[in-house]
Amino acid sequence: MLIKQADDIKSSEITDEKIYLQRRRFLKTTAHVTLTAATGISLAGISAPEVAAALSMGDIKPSPLSTDEAKTDFKDITSYNNFYEFSTDKEAPAHLAKNFKTSPWTVSVEGEINKPAQYQLEDLVKPHQLQERIYRLRCVEAWSMVIPWVGIPLRDIIGRFEPTSKAKYVEFTTLYDPEQMPGQRRRVLNWPYVEGLRMDEAMHPLTLLAVGLYGQVLPNQNGAPLRLVVPWKYGFKSIKSIVKIRFTQTQPQTTWAQAGPGEYGFYANVNPDVDHPRWSQKRERRIGDFFKRDTLMLNGYADQVASLYQGMDPKTLY
Ligand code: MTE
Repeated sequence: MLIKQADDIKSSEITDEKIYLQRRRFLKTTAHVTLTAATGISLAGISAPEVAAALSMGDIKPSPLSTDEAKTDFKDITSYNNFYEFSTDKEAPAHLAKNFKTSPWTVSVEGEINKPAQYQLEDLVKPHQLQERIYRLRCVEAWSMVIPWVGIPLRDIIGRFEPTSKAKYVEFTTLYDPEQMPGQRRRVLNWPYVEGLRMDEAMHPLTLLAVGLYGQVLPNQNGAPLRLVVPWKYGFKSIKSIVKIRFTQTQPQTTWAQAGPGEYGFYANVNPDVDHPRWSQKRERRIGDFFKRDTLMLNGYADQVASLYQGMDPKTLY
């Protein structure tokens, strides 16, 4: 993503995707060769870690909205992250966020609603409401993953707040805490990170508030304890570590749209036919794959969500 490059950020701190993939492939091959040589057992096909020890989160229903595509390795999902509050280096959040405090966690719900309140996370999300949804996450830099999220459809909690007729948009804000989040000590972005959805997008059944993945509590680097997942949009819409949900009459001023208005819009709908000003969006590399694949319109969710944008020019929906 474009970043406002402050003078004190060395370019070496930003891991280039190609270098990461080369390094990763090298490590994978080396690990494979070493293990095969030592044991005669091939690693091929082993993907997720043991998740049996999971959850105090209760029974999790599988969602029919899931894709049946192969899931990305747990290790890749949790070690290659965009989380600028910790670092612009994609490999750094996994260790820099290790001690991030996610409990107790309060979410302030405010704006155009009848029932504004400060919620403890456990009052907002109940274990029996959780479901597993396997969704694609497609990032703007042309990489994608298939992630088994655990979460609650956002629409299932919105009703509780009783939005008024003035609520046209929902704005989400990430925690601001530079002591815990070292990336916030530099003005890489305008902190705190803010994202938003139009009300009908927020109420769409595909929009999820995630609290876990792979049957486990969400790892810190993936946005613990509460993050958004909007699978038909580029990854930057899926805001992490949410502390505020505000219902508004006007379109929220979102962080990336402020940082690069010509490059990152409010809608950020995945669209292979609309190029990013600096690169094509036609193809993507699924993390773990060698070859690139064609990017699908609305990330493969066109049948479900294209109607939300009827009559709008797709070129304005970047
Ligand atoms: N949320 C916050 N608060 N800060 C961020 O830097 N990065 C976004 C999004 N949510 C980001 C964020 C981007 S660019 C992407 S691609 C996804 O998180 C990455 O999610 P993942 O690390 O779980 O794959």
